[in-house]
Amino acid sequence: MCGIVAYVGDRKAFPILVNGLKRLEYRGYDSSGVALAQNGSIALYKKQGMVKAMEDHALLNDTSGTTGIAHTRWATHGQPSDENAHPHLSNSGNLVLVHNGIIENYQSLKDLLKSEGFVFHSETDTEVLVNFIQYVQDKEQCKLRKAVRLALTQVVGAYAICIYDKDKPEEIVVAKMGSPLVIGLGKDEKFIGSDATPFLEYTKEAIYLEDGEMASIIAGEELDIRLIKTDGTVAPVIHKLQMDLESIEKGGYDYFMMKEIYEQPRAIYDTFRGRLLPEQGMIKMSGMEEYADKFRNADRIIMTACGTSWHSALVAEYLFEEFARIPVEVEYGSEFRYRNPVIRKNDIVIAISQSGETADTLAAIKMAKSAGAMVFGICNVAGSSIARETHAGAYTHAGPEIGVASTKAFTSQVTILTMMALELGKIRGEFSTSEYRALLNELNNIPKKIEKVLEKKELIEQISALYKDATNFLYLGRGVNFPIALEGALKLKEISYIHAEGYPAAEMKHGPIALIDENMPVVVVAPNNGHYEKLVSNVQEVKAREGKVIAIVTEGDKELLDSSDHVIEIPETLEALTPLLTVIPLQLLSYYIAVMRGCDVDRPRNLAKSVTVE
Ligand code: G6P
Repeated sequence: MCGIVAYVGDRKAFPILVNGLKRLEYRGYDSSGVALAQNGSIALYKKQGMVKAMEDHALLNDTSGTTGIAHTRWATHGQPSDENAHPHLSNSGNLVLVHNGIIENYQSLKDLLKSEGFVFHSETDTEVLVNFIQYVQDKEQCKLRKAVRLALTQVVGAYAICIYDKDKPEEIVVAKMGSPLVIGLGKDEKFIGSDATPFLEYTKEAIYLEDGEMASIIAGEELDIRLIKTDGTVAPVIHKLQMDLESIEKGGYDYFMMKEIYEQPRAIYDTFRGRLLPEQGMIKMSGMEEYADKFRNADRIIMTACGTSWHSALVAEYLFEEFARIPVEVEYGSEFRYRNPVIRKNDIVIAISQSGETADTLAAIKMAKSAGAMVFGICNVAGSSIARETHAGAYTHAGPEIGVASTKAFTSQVTILTMMALELGKIRGEFSTSEYRALLNELNNIPKKIEKVLEKKELIEQISALYKDATNFLYLGRGVNFPIALEGALKLKEISYIHAEGYPAAEMKHGPIALIDENMPVVVVAPNNGHYEKLVSNVQEVKAREGKVIAIVTEGDKELLDSSDHVIEIPETLEALTPLLTVIPLQLLSYYIAVMRGCDVDRPRNLAKSVTVE
């Protein structure tokens, strides 16, 4: 986690850096800081809290420098505080560094530095790193670039760093291992970011640094990219950025989360585009075509992901087994990587990640690759680490998702996975043409049906007002909607801090039923197909114990209308596609409850959008 921005050129760096940090706040927002090169010294401004707090503090002082590095933090080593905020200075006061990642051997480096007389003012691993670079530079009497390189060969861990020397501020040295780093190329200026959003309005040309690479960045000069290990030169690959500024702004909504909930019909169309071809009765996914034989002959599919992306894998497990009759296992990235799982050559691993940077998912991919499996990635962020690490894949094309709680990325992932399940079923001969076509046509109707669900906004707002003070929530679902119950509960706890649990409805009587009384709202995901009657019985069980039932039902439902306290209707659709509709009211419910409780919906406490630490 943590976000990095840097600038070197002839504009004032401060506004560029602060704007960039605000765009990267999704990566962490417990403290921030900036270091500017001005008048031969380093002006260092750091503050606990949001970027705005640091900005206000810095603006009381001189911010005229034209080179600078900046950071927004999600604490790993040491609590959020002004001292632990980045940038960090070396003891000589000459070097200043920002870092995203974790230096695993920082304690042994710190012991060495202490024995050499170094002192530390923070609890961070980053302050150890900047001093270690100074130590190497003093010892070798070399230029900064070489000192960084030599120091990094002795560092274990993950990092993206930017560092400069106060006596040579025209050069920023950057390096990457495990955490993302992008360089934006302007005419006589350069930009650095954890992603490209900080410099979108200045340039559309970017270079994504690869793991094990470093670069020396000087405003008007060619980039000098080297391998950290060998110092060998690397030819730069320039990417044209497709993103535009509008897509990363709020566009009149109070929160990005609401904007992103409303963007779902369009995001799903974008996910379809060029792939779902209902008139021709086909799906075209180039990443799958490339590995068609592998998919045809696979013995098993393992899906790996974290958080909300893991829930989309759980939905997909039902769909792949139903449509393609292939066994599927769904694994948390963190558990998968640290077990000794059985992975065979005929297994396909599908890794799912909005950001494409989640450390545990990335590590799971590397492990699966080394065991010989083909790895297919589903990511939202183009050029992300997971997109580059996988053999083949498909982008969701949902557009930038900024709210920490994932919404449109989830429905886009489910959309891609549904298309894959259908295609796999076809490749493996599990479908009749009419069944396949019916599913294709109905999938094509889903964005319009989501629009209808979004019209229920006011009703959901009213229901939210009734339950905003609840301390616990239970979410129940069955079959393909059991993962939606999990997702609904996750959304609520993430942004409103209400304890919520998702359960397969039938499991309620094995524990959670003990919690039900008149204070317990129970959200039941009960479309009219797939286990509907069983869910009706579950609702009776809740009502018999005076629980309050909010049911998500299909339009025209009579039974649950009578027995529930509230119903929220979704349009009729095929059972396999219901998750794309049932999840929408749950997103809105958690959104309104969080807003009514005064929570910062886009930046919930302790969370970050991109989790680049284990
Ligand atoms: C964090 C985010 C979640 C996200 C999860 C996995 O926890 O707050 O919204 O689902 O990471 O992220 P990924 O980018 O891999 O989908």
